[in-house]
Amino acid sequence: MERTLAIVKPDAVARGKIGEIMRRFEEAGLRISALKMVRLNKRQAEEFYHVHRARPFFDSLTTFMASGPVAVLVLEGEAAISTVRTIMGATDPARASPGTIRRDLGTSIEQNAVHGSDSRESAGFEVSYFFRGAETFDYDRVDRRGGG
Ligand code: CMP
Repeated sequence: MERTLAIVKPDAVARGKIGEIMRRFEEAGLRISALKMVRLNKRQAEEFYHVHRARPFFDSLTTFMASGPVAVLVLEGEAAISTVRTIMGATDPARASPGTIRRDLGTSIEQNAVHGSDSRESAGFEVSYFFRGAETFDYDRVDRRGGG
């Protein structure tokens, strides 16, 4: 079992896509083991994205991520990190494959609807950035045939 962090970014929250994005993760068999809404301030967005601090887009990205509330979730399952990245699609919605979240719901490389951890190391940092142990939950998925 692997854990990863996903964020429904301010653009997707504002367009009413939280449920749509969570549905896609759940339908891929991932378990939502933690969930909350947060409004990051600029400093918190900079801390969260610190690995990108030297990039030219850092200021714009962190301003955007602090521009409105986000929905943050921990997703658990086998190969959860790569599964989430596949469902999200490429960073730039224009280059993402049809049927991926970013292709369907993203509007630009910055406003790309969703974030997902890119490695076990970043997943560890990102999950613990938002959640304490007692805020994550283990339960069995009881999935009926036919997706009911
Ligand atoms: P995310 O998965 O949240 O990780 C870092 C984010 O930086 C990325 O999605 C994009 O939203 C943003 N990003 C990456 N590359 C660029 C770029 N060239 N210009 C603007 N934003 C970018």
